[in-house]
Amino acid sequence: MSRTVYVNGAYLPEHEATVSIFDRGFLMADGVYEVTSVLDGKLIDFDGHAVRLERSLNELDMRTPIDKDDLLEVHRELVKRNGIEEGLVYLQITRGAPADRDFAFPDPDATEPTVVLFTQNKPGLAASPAAQKGMKVISIEDIRWGRRDIKTVQLLYPSMGKMMAKKAGADDAWMVQDGHVTEGTSNNAYIVKGNKIITRPRSNDILHGITRAAVLRFAEEAQMIVEERLFTIEEAKEADEAFITSASTFVMPVVEIDGVALGDGTPGKVAPRLREIYLDESRKAAI
Ligand code: PDD
Repeated sequence: MSRTVYVNGAYLPEHEATVSIFDRGFLMADGVYEVTSVLDGKLIDFDGHAVRLERSLNELDMRTPIDKDDLLEVHRELVKRNGIEEGLVYLQITRGAPADRDFAFPDPDATEPTVVLFTQNKPGLAASPAAQKGMKVISIEDIRWGRRDIKTVQLLYPSMGKMMAKKAGADDAWMVQDGHVTEGTSNNAYIVKGNKIITRPRSNDILHGITRAAVLRFAEEAQMIVEERLFTIEEAKEADEAFITSASTFVMPVVEIDGVALGDGTPGKVAPRLREIYLDESRKAAI
C-alpha cells in the first residue's frame, strides 16, 4: 500500500513526491531531521522534538519554514491518513534547492527550505522481542564531525557503523572518542554499575536525545542514581548492565559488548524497568 507523504505543503502518494536534484540535502547533506515515535496512534514527546528541531535549524543558520502548531498538524494528519498505530514519523528540512550547485549558502529569501515528512509503520514497536533478548554491540572509532548535537542528515558514518556491526554479527556499534564512549550509531549509550546509571554528559560530542532526557528524569523520579560522566569500553564490559535509548527503540538492553557478555548475558533489572516506566509515562503524555 502506498503511503501518503508530505512535501512542501502538499500531501501526496509517495511515488508522486519529488525533490529537486539541486536540493542541498541531496548534494551537501545540508539538512536536519527528527524522528518521533507513535504509540496508540499518538505522538510521543512531540514538544521535545520540535524544540530540538528549532535548535538544529538555528545552529545552522537555517530559516524555520513551518511553525510548531502547523508541524504538529502535519504529523497528526500523516498518522491519521496512513493509519499508524505504532511507528515513526520522519521529518527532514533542508536548506532547499537553489538554481545551481554552490558551496555558499543560497540567499534565504530566494530559496525556500525543503520540508519532507513521512511515516513508517512499525506494528509491535513497543512489544519488540529484541527488548526481551537484548542487543549486541561492537565498539568502533568515532570519526564523525564535531557538532553531533545538531541532528543533521550526515548519516554516512552511522550507516557504516551499523554495517560493521552487522558484519561482526552484532546489532549496533558504540562509538569511541579519546578512549571514551560517545554514543551508539543512532542512540544514546548507558551502563549500569552497582546502583548507578552512567551516561556521557551532554556536549557537542553527542546528540541530546529526547528519549535520554525523559529516561533520566524518570530514573531520578524512581530514586535511581544517575551519574553523567565519561566511561570507557573496558568499564562498559565490566558493567552489570548496559542499554541504549532513542525514539525508535525507547529503552533497549545491551547484553554483549565486543563479544563480552554483561552479567549472565541476559537483560538485567534496570533497563527493562526503565523501558516499562518510559512506555507507561510516554503513553500517558502522548498527544
Ligand atoms: N536517532 N544519538 C544519535 C546519533 C541519534 O541518531 C539518535 C536518534 C539518538 C537518540 O535521540 P532521540 O532519543 O531523540 O531519538 C542519539 C534517530 C532515532 C534516527 O536517526 O533514526
